Amino acid sequence: MKVRITKGRLKKLSSRRWVERQLNDPFVAAAKKQGYRSRAAFKLIEIDDKFGLIKKARTVLDLGAAPGGWSQVAAERACGGTYGRKLVASDLLDIAPINGIEFVKGDFNDEEVVKRILDALGDKPDLILSDMSPNTVGHAKTDHIRIISLVKSAADFASNNLALGGSFVVKVFQGGGEQRLLSDLKTSFGKVAHFKPKSSRKESSELYLIATGFKK
Ligand SMILES: C[S@@+](CC[C@H](N)C(=O)[O-])C[C@H]1O[C@@H](n2cnc3c(N)ncnc32)[C@H](O)[C@@H]1O
Repeated sequence: MKVRITKGRLKKLSSRRWVERQLNDPFVAAAKKQGYRSRAAFKLIEIDDKFGLIKKARTVLDLGAAPGGWSQVAAERACGGTYGRKLVASDLLDIAPINGIEFVKGDFNDEEVVKRILDALGDKPDLILSDMSPNTVGHAKTDHIRIISLVKSAADFASNNLALGGSFVVKVFQGGGEQRLLSDLKTSFGKVAHFKPKSSRKESSELYLIATGFKK
């Protein structure tokens, strides 16, 4: 630990810990230096370096995109000046515009928003990324249900809309029904792997399911 925040500067212990963690996190520093909007960008970089998904995709959907780190990586790797690629991002929250990305604002649980996403895509996506995580309310059972329901919505959307041969990357939380989802995905994808990027905080229970070779 390099930087410590004293009690005089921030009264609440949880706020001091958060600021300390940000100040001492090498991925926060690297994101700032490299112009990424979030440290989360490095998680997609690691996923894509290992599984090589973005370059192959013509139509990409990024769910839970704000503030835009993953979309920046997708735009760099998929667009790269190539004509004819389509990238759509969506979130409850607004994002500042990113070159090459069409943004749809709204709640993914809302059918109208899903319809706008499909309209924006115009074609079946070959890659669906979901880094969505619901805002927690601090009530363990409610938070657990919200996480499972959001992941399930993303998985159902992928099963109904992915192009054949397409890929689906989804953030799940250990203990959040990820084993069930893993076996469900195995029935409709050629291969399903789980992956914990180095840039994902060790203390976080998040991990990513990477499903490739969509069959039906
Ligand atoms: C960890 S952040 C995503 C970070 C992003 N991948 C990046 O690289 O900057 C999770 C996002 O999920 C979004 N989210 C949560 N519930 C959602 C919902 N029901 N519909 C759409 N987005 C949602 C949040 O607003 C939040 O921006």
